[in-house]
Amino acid sequence: MLEEMTVVSNFAQYLDNSVMMIMIILGLLFLSVVVPLFIFMYKYSASRNKPENTENISHNSTLELVWTIIPIILILVMFSISYGVFKEFRSIPDDGLKIKVLAQKWSWSYTYPNGRVENTLYVPRGENVILEMTAPEGDVIHNMFVPSFRIKEDIVPGMETRQWFNANIEGEYDVFCAEFCGTAHAYMLSKVVVVSQDEYDNWIDNESIFDPREAPASTEESTTLLDINQPSASADPVALGERVFTGNACNTCHTVDGTPGAGIAPTLQGIYGTSVTLINSSGDEVTVEVGDDYLRESIINPSALVNQGFNPLMPAYEGTIDGEDLDNLVEYLKSL
Ligand code: CUA
Repeated sequence: MLEEMTVVSNFAQYLDNSVMMIMIILGLLFLSVVVPLFIFMYKYSASRNKPENTENISHNSTLELVWTIIPIILILVMFSISYGVFKEFRSIPDDGLKIKVLAQKWSWSYTYPNGRVENTLYVPRGENVILEMTAPEGDVIHNMFVPSFRIKEDIVPGMETRQWFNANIEGEYDVFCAEFCGTAHAYMLSKVVVVSQDEYDNWIDNESIFDPREAPASTEESTTLLDINQPSASADPVALGERVFTGNACNTCHTVDGTPGAGIAPTLQGIYGTSVTLINSSGDEVTVEVGDDYLRESIINPSALVNQGFNPLMPAYEGTIDGEDLDNLVEYLKSL
């Protein structure tokens, strides 16, 4: 949890300093009210003073000017400190790595300039990264929050919002959705992984490498290794299907180990070949054998038949998962 305190982006230190300065100013203002309060409570208590001896003061111009002007100056100081951070966060540079972020109930996907799509945000250290964020029409408002980077911005269906950062320490950092977006809001999580420029360069055009930290030192070497020694990783339909599964964040709602998980969707462990009782669109119970056809149908059009005890929350993946991806995903589900 303390990892969130790490200062990882260009403006994190600036923001922390400004928060600290504002806290100090607020602390001084607090003391300037509370300390005299206690002094006066003691000095002017009823037991020490007779009402007839108390002077009736109507006003004191000097004092009133002092307690008006000093707070105005302090507020302007706080404004200028905050405005400095705000301006840096809002001054999005023109060049940098532009990554499209799609937030939807309840997953994150990141599309790179070359078309590569991931659900973990891999970025090179020391580069300006510009996030162009949106949510599908008909979805709800989400918010991309990376505490370690001190960045946070709403994502609104049908429009594009942007934010940026330049990460300076390699590592893995949490991404949260910070806008209540429904049942699985708390599970709408992702990671930003900051890697070296070399690791990033080796990874970005090589779809068979899933994580840049596992990328070999040079691209030549990787081709040789993959062709001769490790063809399995890229050819195994179950492994590729698992990647489609996590890539589309199916694991947000569906567990594969038999546990209830978030409790909003059935586990997928051992379902292949079983019989399940489902509710069709007219509310009638139907019993279906879980085979290839049912698995395909329930990915493409999940609301046609819904598991008993669950709400029809799953988005339809028609047009999103198709062709080989769908074949591999079905193979993966059969293997569970
Ligand atoms: Cu998306 Cu909360």
